[in-house]
Amino acid sequence: MLLLGAGIETTSHMVSNTFYSFLYDDPSLYGQLRQNPEWVPLAVEEMLRYRFHNAKRHRTVKQDNQLLGVDLKKGDVVISWMSAANMDEQMFEEPFELNIHRRNNKRHLTFGNGPHFCLGAPLARMELSIALTAFVEKIARIEPVDSFDLENNLATSAPGQSLTHLPVKIVASEK
Ligand code: HEM
Repeated sequence: MLLLGAGIETTSHMVSNTFYSFLYDDPSLYGQLRQNPEWVPLAVEEMLRYRFHNAKRHRTVKQDNQLLGVDLKKGDVVISWMSAANMDEQMFEEPFELNIHRRNNKRHLTFGNGPHFCLGAPLARMELSIALTAFVEKIARIEPVDSFDLENNLATSAPGQSLTHLPVKIVASEK
């Protein structure tokens, strides 16, 4: 059940967030990937950093201790904001810019870190690359739908930024 939950919702949200980004963050990017499908893995990595759908994880303190000068008591909950780390300007140059060519774009924390690093990270990367490659090979152009209202299509329960729907107009081939 863990694999099912961890493996399906995550990747499908990542696909919809990526298409959101193609439509609204940088409308030139889809065309660039169609021209250069070898850039798809770079786009996947930058989307994981920039349009993460999993903003935070929490941990429960098992015994009293101190972390970075902060006293922690057994039972306290510590929240780690991967979303903030992904936008850390000491790590990423111009972090609020979407840039598939940044040299260290794999240093994001979207898959966590340490002993519980996402078991499915290689599979997720592969799924996203396959999905995007198949799409850019077949579909010439994508366009937003004017009536789309972001506020009414955000998932309420997700710990990050996830969409419930994302309508996309597709043009299969240029005439
Ligand atoms: C974009 C897709 C995905 C994202 C963003 C993601 C994110 C994460 C994160 C942040 C963690 C760490 C949780 C923690 O430290 O508490 C995690 C753990 C995990 N993920 Fe993923 N995941 C993705 C896809 C997948 C897939 C496709 C699978 C399997 C089919 C998977 C299976 C797991 C499992 C089993 C763990 C627990 C690992 C452990 O506790 O040792 N994930 N994932």
